[in-house]
Amino acid sequence: MRIVCVEDYRRLSVIAADIVVELMQAKPDAVLGLATGSTPIGLYRELVRREREGQVDCSHATTFNLDEYLGLPEEHPQSYRHFMEEHLFGRLRRRPRKTYIPPSLPDDLDEACRAYEERIREHGGIDLQILGIGRNGHIGFNEPGSSLGSRTRPVALRPETIADNARFFSSPEEVPRYAITMGIGTILEARQIVLLASGLNKSEAVQQAVEGPITCQCPASALQMHPNVVMILDEEAASRLENLDYYRELEEARSRMAAILEEARRRTVRAS
Ligand code: PGA
Repeated sequence: MRIVCVEDYRRLSVIAADIVVELMQAKPDAVLGLATGSTPIGLYRELVRREREGQVDCSHATTFNLDEYLGLPEEHPQSYRHFMEEHLFGRLRRRPRKTYIPPSLPDDLDEACRAYEERIREHGGIDLQILGIGRNGHIGFNEPGSSLGSRTRPVALRPETIADNARFFSSPEEVPRYAITMGIGTILEARQIVLLASGLNKSEAVQQAVEGPITCQCPASALQMHPNVVMILDEEAASRLENLDYYRELEEARSRMAAILEEARRRTVRAS
């Protein structure tokens, strides 16, 4: 797990966009796993800006969102389909080829979940999954208590998640109680994972996810088992990490090592 601690939310969004753009340039038909919530909004803004400037083309990409509320029609202003149209898809000059989001009003719940997994498989799996993290350590809507091997399924939201999401609705009673989410097992199959966290209210969950035991009580702790995770944290979200100085040193060492190797290569070329 790489821990990248940056000064603020803006920098976090820029670095996340760098990773997405680098992938899209190397693999224009990449499969992206996308997240909703306040945290990725800066990333999406940055992607839209770069796309409009011609730095990246998303039109060959396919996207799969992590989750969707059950029971809200797609056009509801708080549905995740609506969120994605408002913050990303609808603002790009050229939309991704195909944008999948779990259905909010499926005829058959279990069949819809099975079909979502099947679609991901048909597209060759997810190349890069973007994640936020809940105050309770959830990823997607995998709340504490979710099995680490779980797949796409219907879930009930925990009271703290309903309370956190109430800010987007006129009253807490309006927040849907149920959702469909990719499972933790589904998320862990992505080839690369980028988790974004900003603000003091995420610091406890981040500390548990990175330095705590791997447990269903903190679903994000499952990421410790994944070989290719980058956590991009602002100062506040990183503030409770016990090994923060060491993570910073590792990141500095990465760039120093790259510079040393580059210099050595240049010397070798000059000598030959
Ligand atoms: P947030 O939500 O980005 O709105 O804080 C993150 C999450 O619950 O996964």
